[in-house]
Amino acid sequence: MDIIDLLSFLEKPKLYEKGNAFMWTDPYIQKKLLKTHLDQNTDLASRKQNSIDHTISWIFSTKEGVDLSILDLGCGPGLYSEKMAKLGHNVIGVDISACSLEYAKKSAETKHLSIEYIHANYLELNFPNGLDLVDLIYCDFGVLSKTEQMEFLTKVLNSLKPDGVFVFDAYNLELKNTLTEKRDFFKEDSGFWRSHPYLCLSETFLYPEANAFLDQHVVIDDEIKVYRFYNHYYSEAMMKQTLKDIGFSEVIVKKDVISDSSITFYYCKK
Ligand SMILES: C[S@@+](CC[C@H](N)C(=O)[O-])C[C@H]1O[C@@H](n2cnc3c(N)ncnc32)[C@H](O)[C@@H]1O
Repeated sequence: MDIIDLLSFLEKPKLYEKGNAFMWTDPYIQKKLLKTHLDQNTDLASRKQNSIDHTISWIFSTKEGVDLSILDLGCGPGLYSEKMAKLGHNVIGVDISACSLEYAKKSAETKHLSIEYIHANYLELNFPNGLDLVDLIYCDFGVLSKTEQMEFLTKVLNSLKPDGVFVFDAYNLELKNTLTEKRDFFKEDSGFWRSHPYLCLSETFLYPEANAFLDQHVVIDDEIKVYRFYNHYYSEAMMKQTLKDIGFSEVIVKKDVISDSSITFYYCKK
C-alpha cells in the first residue's frame, strides 16, 4: 500500500472525478447490497415496503390506462417492477447488478409474473420506443453528472409515446441544510465492504457551486479502493426548468409521496 496514494485520496476531488472502484458490480458487495435492498428495517438501497406502496399508488393515481409499457431503470431486485406487473402492466426492468437481477428473475418466476429483466448500464442501453412510462426511483437521477443528466433525459423523452411520462425522485433544498463536510473512519473484521478485515475512511465533500455533494468511502486492506457517490439537490424551479428545456410539456411536482421531506418526486409528461 502506498501512503502517498492514500494521502492523495484524502484531498477533496474535483467535482465528478471518479474513484477507482464501482460498488454496484463488485461480486462481494452486490450480495451485501441485495440483503440491504430486502431489509425492511432500513431505507438504504431500497425504501421500505410502505414507501414503495405509496410511490406506486401515487404514480398510478396519475397515470391511467391498462397494459402500459413500462421501463423500470435501476430496478434492483424488482420491488417496483413486481408491483407494476401485478397491476397488469408490461414491465422491463434494467439493472447493472447481476446479483439483484438474478434474485428479481427468480422472484418473478415464483410469483408467476411476466417481467423482462435486462442486465445493462442504462446510460449505455438503447431504450425501446413507444413506452408509456419510464421510472428511475431512489434519487439515482442526481447521481449523474450534469452532462449525463441531459443525455439521459433526451434518451428517456425519445423513448416515450406522445402521452408517455417519466417519473423520478430527487433531493430538494431541505437536504442542503442538513449537509456538512465530515470525516469518519471505522475498522471491521468482516462487513459491508469486505469479508475480511479492513479499514474504511468515509468522507462527505460539498460542492455548493454545483448544488452537489460527494460521499466517498476509501476501503483499505492490502490495496486502496475508492468508492465515490456524487449526488445533487434541486429547487423545484430549477428542476422544472431543466425538464422543460429538454422538451417535457408539463411537470407535476409532489413532495409528500413518502415521509422523507428531503425527497421530491417529478411526474414529467412528454
Ligand atoms: C439505490 S438502488 C435503487 C433500486 C430500486 N430503484 C429501488 O428503489 O428499489 C440503485 C440501483 O441502480 C442500479 N444501478 C446503478 N447504476 C446503474 C447504471 N448505470 N445502470 C443500471 N443500473 C444501475 C444499482 O445496481 C441499484 O440496483
